[in-house]
Amino acid sequence: MFSPSLLGSDFSRAGEELAAIAASGADYAHFDVMDGNFVPEITFGAKFIEDLRQESDLVFDVHLMIDSPERHIERFIKAGADMITVHAESTHHLWRVLQMIKESGKDAGVAINPGTPVSFIETVLPIVDSVLVMTVNPGWGGQRFIMNTVEKISELDSRRSDGGFSYIIGADGGIGRKNIAELYRNGMDLAVMGTAFFSEDDKGAFLHELEEIVEG
Ligand code: DX5
Ligand code: ZN
Repeated sequence: MFSPSLLGSDFSRAGEELAAIAASGADYAHFDVMDGNFVPEITFGAKFIEDLRQESDLVFDVHLMIDSPERHIERFIKAGADMITVHAESTHHLWRVLQMIKESGKDAGVAINPGTPVSFIETVLPIVDSVLVMTVNPGWGGQRFIMNTVEKISELDSRRSDGGFSYIIGADGGIGRKNIAELYRNGMDLAVMGTAFFSEDDKGAFLHELEEIVEG
């Protein structure tokens, strides 16, 4: 499954870019919310998502790169997010914030930075709907993929089968033709892609090609 990230698109044409994601056959659209604290950059807030929600039936996958996300969760739920992912490093209240998301009926995701081990989130693995492994340092699109993160995907895959858990495993950052097969082989279900996706003219053909590489 693919979740193209609007961060790789032209925000002045956000509605059209979102329509291009839907036309490509992707199931999800990924929204990178940055607060200038947890990560240096600032992108957009809940209103941006709420306005685009009116124009799209895609699954809205909202990646919160913000400190203390528990203070803002209600607002993103109201904006129409379908899946909300918070960083394990961004809050003292990880269990509580995941519970808040789940109780609203939305899917709850936890993300980990490249330097954070899987063991750091082991207590929440039974309750999350997805785990997002950052394969670059969060904060910017267009960075180089960090190879060492792949073993965390495979560890999450093993823990999932050993524990009988049902979370999906996502990977985010630096993903494209070169590494998609290896990521899938190691247990990734959902590929988040910004630069690689938006630099293609025929985005549908690109996703199709990636599917063939994976099946290859
Ligand atoms: C990075 C973001 C990513 C970003 C990925 O902080 O979380 O979702 O859009 O972009 P690419 O595919 O360009 O690495
Ligand atoms: Zn992201």
